[in-house]
Amino acid sequence: MTLLIQNGRIITASDDFVGDILCEGEVVTQIGPHINAPKDAEVIDATGKYVFPGFVDPHVHIHLPFMGTHAKDTYDTASRAALVGGTTTLIEMCCPSRSDQPLEAFELWKSRAENSACDYSFHMGVSRFDDSTAAQLREIVNQGITSFKVFLAYKGALGVTDEELFATLSLAKQLGVLVTAHCENETLIEALQKQLLAEGKTGPEWHEPSRPTRVEAEGVHHLMSFAQLTGCHVYCVHTSCREALEVIQAARLRGVRAWVETVIPYLTLDKTYAEQPNFEGAKYVMSPPLRDPIEQPYLWSAIRSRLISTVATDHAPFDFANQKEMGIDDFTKIPNGIPSIEDRVNLLYTHGVCRGRLDLNTFVDAASTQAAKLFGLYPRKGTIQAGSDADLVVYDPDYRGKISSATQLMDVDYSAYEGWEIHGRPSLVAVRGQVQVRDGKFVGNLGYGQFLAREPTHF
Ligand code: URP
Ligand code: ZN
Ligand code: ZN
Repeated sequence: MTLLIQNGRIITASDDFVGDILCEGEVVTQIGPHINAPKDAEVIDATGKYVFPGFVDPHVHIHLPFMGTHAKDTYDTASRAALVGGTTTLIEMCCPSRSDQPLEAFELWKSRAENSACDYSFHMGVSRFDDSTAAQLREIVNQGITSFKVFLAYKGALGVTDEELFATLSLAKQLGVLVTAHCENETLIEALQKQLLAEGKTGPEWHEPSRPTRVEAEGVHHLMSFAQLTGCHVYCVHTSCREALEVIQAARLRGVRAWVETVIPYLTLDKTYAEQPNFEGAKYVMSPPLRDPIEQPYLWSAIRSRLISTVATDHAPFDFANQKEMGIDDFTKIPNGIPSIEDRVNLLYTHGVCRGRLDLNTFVDAASTQAAKLFGLYPRKGTIQAGSDADLVVYDPDYRGKISSATQLMDVDYSAYEGWEIHGRPSLVAVRGQVQVRDGKFVGNLGYGQFLAREPTHF
């Protein structure tokens, strides 16, 4: 398959120029001001459009047994949704429970992804560390999983003890593995939840007060201490607030190797959404919670200054009916999560680039390149250069549309962004040279997506 994309404005994390891109087989073979079309090539006219590297979402949940239920999507729905939204590679959190064996869990998560339409990898969740764990984790790393995930929240479910955290980080340091971490202090959460419920405060609007910014900053502080003393490289997922950023900044000054992710809901939504009446607020319950809008300018400037490396989704879809409703009398029982894999890139473009908060290079860096670099996929993914995978997004900045649950591909009964306008969308998306999205519609093949084995990049 030969694809020639002509006359697009090619944007990477560092470049911005008009030119042509030739893709032969699965890779980019040539980039230049004008490339003659080989006779078997499909020619795409990208005049007036951007050509971005395929976007990488480094924090996704698809198969997720959690809070007494399961996240709603499968790879069938989530990978198609990812692709129409411009995401060509996703990294899913493999989240075994404490009673699961890591290798079995890894095989299960991998088997669920076999019909993916986009490329994918996993962060290996560590929810218990006993005598057999290290050998199993080594085997998983040998199979190309070079990042772990730990939860410093969700006590008794996914959360690890301090002994387990130390053991996990020590092993990761030995193996050159980056440890991604959900940082909140679980003891404080439990105490605050009890206090609020005892006062009759049961609605979704009390979720944020049960996990205030200090709870997150305390979790981050804890992780930074363990990272400092083990030498392990760490990555704080879904960072929502200035207090947490300041803790990471201070740790970095001390020499801790720490990277930061935020997610699209924190940049675009705030806690007032979770305060909506008639339990509507439950649609906006995630952890850490949506914050006061005062936090958002700090997040945007941290992306610009590269204190925040990546903008992911933390895609975690639970239906409003029957799933979010499990917490109708008690906010602590509302399954935590907001779906956004389909909308991340368009929302970041609309609210970041179009509003002058991000330049185009920073947009690509945060939504694609940094994730590829941090997680051992660069330069195969995350950029456009000869030899890279031909994962390309031809993006139409003139498109105007609205987000709606009626038209989304994500398998969930609501959208947190219902009726929101988007300025721009991917018109064509190629994965390793194959066109999977045309005119904004999925036209590709389920099962085309590949598992990406990654190399350790952190020492
Ligand atoms: O609320 C969230 N974030 N749900 C998904 C699980 C997690 O903590 O990442
Ligand atoms: Zn989390
Ligand atoms: Zn998550």
